[in-house]
Amino acid sequence: MAVYEVKHPLIQHKLGLMRQSELSTKQFRELSSEVARLLTYEATKDLETETITVNGWAGPVSVHQIKGKKITVVPILRAGLGMMNGVLDMIPSAKVSVVGLYRDEETLEPVAYYQKFTSGMEERIALIIDPMLATGGSLLATIEMLKKSGCRRIKGLFLVAVPEGIEKITAAHPDVEIYVASIDERLNEQGYILPGLGDAGDKIFGTK
Ligand code: URA
Repeated sequence: MAVYEVKHPLIQHKLGLMRQSELSTKQFRELSSEVARLLTYEATKDLETETITVNGWAGPVSVHQIKGKKITVVPILRAGLGMMNGVLDMIPSAKVSVVGLYRDEETLEPVAYYQKFTSGMEERIALIIDPMLATGGSLLATIEMLKKSGCRRIKGLFLVAVPEGIEKITAAHPDVEIYVASIDERLNEQGYILPGLGDAGDKIFGTK
């Protein structure tokens, strides 16, 4: 099981700003992207590189380049889109595989209404993005969709998570790595994270 609460001062500072209730849509959106960029830096620290020779200003020079198949970013609609540009700033050539889920009113289980994965999922590292890891239901469904498509290496990037959501994922999928800016206290009766950020989707899209 690998859960990384990334304590970098820049992440902690920016997340602290995001917790303020009086933030504009623009500010919240910008900060979501900035934290996503920093989480991406952390989550890609173990990518394999290979050495190649390029023509430098003073002749041939050995440089490192990322080896093998590339990354697919997996935003969970809709709030996951708020982290997408930040991740793509760091990995501009990444392909995007989108997942849309809604919650069935009766069973309360997530139901997929949209799935569009890029090719070669067997060879790719998937970076799932969603601002909040709350009950873990959407993440669990997304991981299952990815594994069904043949994806073998999965990491999830979140702004805020709670222990119960993390436990649900690590119990079912101990191979999945979780990177999160803060592990908060708990869920309230409505399923919101405390202290949390409020409704991240509404804040990113400026809806209520
Ligand atoms: N989704 C959100 O947007 N906020 C929460 O606190 C939990 C789930």
